[in-house]
Amino acid sequence: MDEVERLTKGHYRKFREQRFKEFASKALEEGKQTETTNNMDWESTFFLRHLPESNMSEIPDLDDEYRKAMKEFAAEIEKLAERLLDLLCENLGLEKGYLKKAFCGSKGPTFGTKVSNYPPCPRPELIKGLRAHTDAGGIILLLQDDRVSGLQLLKDGRWVDVPPMRHSIVVNLGDQLEVITNGRYKSVMHRVLAQTDGNRMSIASFYNPGSDAVIFPAPSLLEIEAERKSEVYPKFVFEDYMKLYVGHKFQAKEPRFEAMKDLEKVRSHSVLTS
Ligand SMILES: [Fe+2]
Repeated sequence: MDEVERLTKGHYRKFREQRFKEFASKALEEGKQTETTNNMDWESTFFLRHLPESNMSEIPDLDDEYRKAMKEFAAEIEKLAERLLDLLCENLGLEKGYLKKAFCGSKGPTFGTKVSNYPPCPRPELIKGLRAHTDAGGIILLLQDDRVSGLQLLKDGRWVDVPPMRHSIVVNLGDQLEVITNGRYKSVMHRVLAQTDGNRMSIASFYNPGSDAVIFPAPSLLEIEAERKSEVYPKFVFEDYMKLYVGHKFQAKEPRFEAMKDLEKVRSHSVLTS
C-alpha cells in the first residue's frame, strides 16, 4: 500500500499535475461565471483494467516500477474482493461461490482500478471533487489517502465523513449487489468534497460482473422476500445496465432499475410474439 501510494503521488506530480492545472483554471472560470458547476468534477483520473484482459501496457507514462506495483496490488485486491463476496454469501445463506459465479459471464468478472487525485481547490463551494452517485458494479475496494479527507457517504439522509485511515481498505457495494441480493445489501450514495488544502489520492478497484453476465436476484432470497414484498428487482445483462448508467450516473438508482424492468418486459414481449 505504501509503495502504491508513493508511486501514485509521484506519477501525478510528474505527468498529470500540469494538465490538471490547465483544466482547473477553465473549470474555475466557468464556475465563477455561473456560480455553480453541475457537469464536472475536480478530479484527475485514469483507469487501469486488469480483467478480463489487462490494458496496463497501453497506458502511457507508466514506468516499469509503477506497473509492477499496481499489478501486484491488483492481484491482492482481487483475492480480497473474492473473499469478501464469499463472506456476503455466508451472511445471506447463499452457497459459497454464488456471487463470484453470478459475476462471471463468458469471460469472468471485469476488474479494474480507477486512480484519482483530488488536488486542492480554492473554491470548493463551486465544484465537487466528485458528484454524488452510487457505483454501478459489484464490490469496490478503496485505498484512500492517509491524510487528506473528502469522501462522504449518505446515511439516513445525512452526509457522513469516511475519514482517512492509514493502511485500510474502504469497502463499498454497487448497484449489482443490491439487485442480486434482492435489496438485502444496498448500494450507497457517496461523493467527494473538494478541499482547499492537500491533494487527496484515491485508488478504487472495481470488481464487477463480466459484460455479458446476466444479473438477477438470487432465487433463494426471492422466495423469502416475495411473501412480504411485491416489488422485485429486474433481470438484465450487465452491459445493458452500464449503457444506461453512463448517462445517468449522477442520478438516483431507482429509475435505472425501473428502466431495466421495462427493458425486460419489452424483451419478453418480443420473445412471445416472434
Ligand atoms: Fe464511486
